[in-house]
Amino acid sequence: MDFEPYIRDIKDFPKPGVTFKDITPLLKNATALQKAANALVGFIGNTKIDKVVGVDSRGFIFAPMLAEKLGAGFVTVRKSGKLPYTTISESYDLEYGKGVLEIHADAIEEGDKVLVHDDVLATGGTAEAVCKLVEKLGGEVVQCNFLIELSFLKGGDKLNGYPVKALLRY
Ligand code: PRP
Ligand code: MG
Repeated sequence: MDFEPYIRDIKDFPKPGVTFKDITPLLKNATALQKAANALVGFIGNTKIDKVVGVDSRGFIFAPMLAEKLGAGFVTVRKSGKLPYTTISESYDLEYGKGVLEIHADAIEEGDKVLVHDDVLATGGTAEAVCKLVEKLGGEVVQCNFLIELSFLKGGDKLNGYPVKALLRY
């Protein structure tokens, strides 16, 4: 299936000069939603996945669907201050300043095979921080997959060493 018709460009959002890739047309279409989830699962092939890690907040849309289809657990990586239990954290660069992502210290078991999922790969700072969190807890990042990779921002360079898959590349 060609998912491109279900991605809407919003010019100058969230600020002038940026074109936002809006995935809500894909999400509201029953067929596109189902096929997108199946295609993301298909990227994994036969590899056993123990945990799917979804990234706060738009990574939470598909990650639990993928976990359910893969027979894996679902783990949340959240922006700082949201997780209630003991956490470890990792900072990453934002356009202005730094962001902090956290994961529960018991979310990943030593040796877990992990799929990292987010909606968009842009500069790669977010996904790189997530991979570091997984590895700090002894997990093995098997793949990072995304609905959309903005290839011109070269986020894949930050994730070298990890297999990166995306449904759509711009
Ligand atoms: C967006 C997007 C990715 C991240 C990609 O999330 O959902 O998570 O940016 O950017 P990067 O590759 O340059 O790090 P955002 O932080 O805007 O938050 P949201 O998911 O809560 O909307
Ligand atoms: Mg996000």
